[in-house]
Amino acid sequence: MKVLALNGSHRPGQNTATMLNIVLDEVKAEGFETELIELYEQEIKLCTSCNKCLMKPECSITDDDMPMIINKLLAADAIILGSPVYFGNVSSMMKIFIDRSRSIHMCKNALDGKIGAALTHAGLRNGGQEMTQMILERFLQCHGLRVVEARDPETGIFNGGPLGTMFDSMDGKKVKWKKDVSEDMLTVKTCTSLGKNITRVLKQK
Ligand SMILES: Cc1cc2nc3c(=O)[nH]c(=O)nc-3n(C[C@H](O)[C@H](O)[C@H](O)COP(=O)(O)O)c2cc1C
Repeated sequence: MKVLALNGSHRPGQNTATMLNIVLDEVKAEGFETELIELYEQEIKLCTSCNKCLMKPECSITDDDMPMIINKLLAADAIILGSPVYFGNVSSMMKIFIDRSRSIHMCKNALDGKIGAALTHAGLRNGGQEMTQMILERFLQCHGLRVVEARDPETGIFNGGPLGTMFDSMDGKKVKWKKDVSEDMLTVKTCTSLGKNITRVLKQK
């Protein structure tokens, strides 16, 4: 079984990628095959709104990396989307990917029944992570995926997300920022919980 993660950050290998890799490491430890695609490193052209996908499950754009990504989505058993928060929303890279997925949604939900999960990272403590998380999870649901939550399997506590932040604490009137998400222990733990839950649901399949 294969778990595919897509990173929408315009900074490959940074906080959002770190979070996705924590989830994937958990899944890999249970013997599942994993892959992370950095969307920023792919050529994905803008949807032209030609509406071909309303008539046939096809896209009129074929000369970029989206056909390859769609093949990987179709071959995956679970799909994890990660996006940084840009102005309270998903990154523009993630949105371009979302729009281009219409050809596997309109005529037929080709990803129907797969496992889905999402995570977000933002600079501020309340920087729009929850809204962005909802947008990603709603997109997965639109495609017919079963969204897995990051509830802690040991305590049953669901902290939302995973929703990462650079905010650390207040030093008097000054905000102290974390170096990166590896210092955000709650987020690291929540990513681990998400990986465990994805593994559990995949094993039930
Ligand atoms: C265009 C842009 C818009 C952003 N908007 C927000 C925002 O609305 N709220 C927030 O908390 N951080 C915002 N940020 C900060 C990023 O969410 C933050 O740096 C995040 O860690 C980036 O993830 P990455 O390390 O995976 O690239 C923005 C960054 C950029 C580049």
